[in-house]
Amino acid sequence: MTTAIIGTGGIGSAIARQLASTGETLRLSSADHESAQRLAAEIGRAAVVAVDNRDALQSADAVVLALRFAVLHGVIDEISAALTDKLVVVPSNPVGLDAQGSLLRLLPEGQSSGEVVAGWMPTEAHLAMAFGTMSADLLESSSNRSPDPAVLFYATDDDRAGEKVERLIRTAGFEPVKVGGLEQSGRLEVGGDLHDLVVGPAEAWSLIDEA
Ligand SMILES: NC(=O)c1ccc[n+]([C@@H]2O[C@H](COP(=O)([O-])OP(=O)(O)OC[C@H]3O[C@@H](n4cnc5c(N)ncnc54)[C@H](OP(=O)(O)O)[C@@H]3O)[C@@H](O)[C@H]2O)c1
Repeated sequence: MTTAIIGTGGIGSAIARQLASTGETLRLSSADHESAQRLAAEIGRAAVVAVDNRDALQSADAVVLALRFAVLHGVIDEISAALTDKLVVVPSNPVGLDAQGSLLRLLPEGQSSGEVVAGWMPTEAHLAMAFGTMSADLLESSSNRSPDPAVLFYATDDDRAGEKVERLIRTAGFEPVKVGGLEQSGRLEVGGDLHDLVVGPAEAWSLIDEA
């Protein structure tokens, strides 16, 4: 299967390496074309660099928008027409840096990123919030854990998105666990109770049940 990855920075490149290691074909795009080219060269034949963000979607089944929250809306508008029937995976956390370099939440308390991003998405797209729950380093060091696989949590309101994102999560070497609908995506974000956790399925389900 083919997945487009838009944004080849910290998390985009970690996701790309994980997916390519098990045979997913990738189409890469980034504001910095050279960064996408470097990543494609590192990955080898499984990855090609697209001409632009829209071109990355050509013949892709899914797209990962590995972008900072502040640029997400603009890129979704740019590629909107190409998102029909695609799985759209968003790992972005709604955070930025203030003038002092401290972490700043970009949404009001109580508003989840998933609900906000859903409002930016064309209705024909299948949205799942996933792959943003761990730092890039943890994602790479925790994949293909044995015998107890590490869990990647996801949130979606869309059953089709759920099936497709579970395939991608397994391809990346993790066990998928759904936390709930998009209104639950705040639990996955920076500051959420399920953020930066490396747990197996049994512990993951007990954390979901406890809440
Ligand atoms: N890094 C992590 O460990 C981690 C873990 C979990 C979740 N996340 C979340 O994932 C998101 C991305 O984080 P990151 O650390 O990967 O950020 P990053 O290193 O800054 O990477 C963002 C990438 O997006 C590209 N980009 C910017 N504008 C674009 C556009 N219009 N079209 C295409 N590509 C564009 C950037 O290119 P340029 O460099 O040329 O601007 C860069 O390659 C954030 O919301 C973050 O909270 C990050």
